[in-house]
Amino acid sequence: MQRGGVVAGQVIEATGRRIEAQSLGVDCVSIDGFECAGHPGEDDVGGLILFPAAADRLSIPIIASGGIADARGLIAALALGCDGVNMGTRFMATVESPIHENAKKQIVANDERSTNLIFRAMHNTARVAKNAVSDEVVAIDRRGNATFADVKDLVAGAGGAIVLDRGEMDAGIWSAGQSQAWFTTFRHAPNSSPASCVMRKRSSKAG
Ligand SMILES: Cc1cc2nc3c(=O)[nH]c(=O)nc-3n(C[C@H](O)[C@H](O)[C@H](O)COP(=O)(O)O)c2cc1C
Repeated sequence: MQRGGVVAGQVIEATGRRIEAQSLGVDCVSIDGFECAGHPGEDDVGGLILFPAAADRLSIPIIASGGIADARGLIAALALGCDGVNMGTRFMATVESPIHENAKKQIVANDERSTNLIFRAMHNTARVAKNAVSDEVVAIDRRGNATFADVKDLVAGAGGAIVLDRGEMDAGIWSAGQSQAWFTTFRHAPNSSPASCVMRKRSSKAG
């Protein structure tokens, strides 16, 4: 791919893998803190630790990912030695986001506790929004002997699509991160916050 001019990146969730990433010759890494939506890895290390730890060890560009929702997070990531940021949860609650309005409103209503970690027992942890389905998956996971077969119907992508397309919020699992807690940046989002305004947010006191 690189010979064809394609920039090749690797997603990592721990600095132990950075040597592998860099030595494999990737052009950049995206490093996911524990706060992120999606797969934060199995080591439960937050971005405040991971971002500078990666910056200290890597010479290739680093994209900070997870728990970043506006210019404050971008500035923090740059201050910690990263070169850019990757944001998922925040952009779901913007005017341009094609997801159902109910999902945008749910993100705005949620806080930092409104996520669940699923697939822990399977060592394939994923952070998703807290709802009836993800609560049930966690309960099964906590039995200790769960396999993917025990939860596969609950976590099927079709259920998540119904959440995001039709706004039936308990129809399945859907990815969301702890940055839902950034209330002052999210609260106007469904109606009045286009993506272009997201990164102008620098101070919670500015409203
Ligand atoms: C709705 C949604 C779907 C996602 N799907 C994927 C995916 O398919 N593969 C992946 O590697 N990461 C996926 N992610 C994770 C994002 O790429 C990104 O790493 C993450 O959202 C960053 O954390 P943040 O949500 O706190 O900004 C998804 C995130 C969201 C919010």
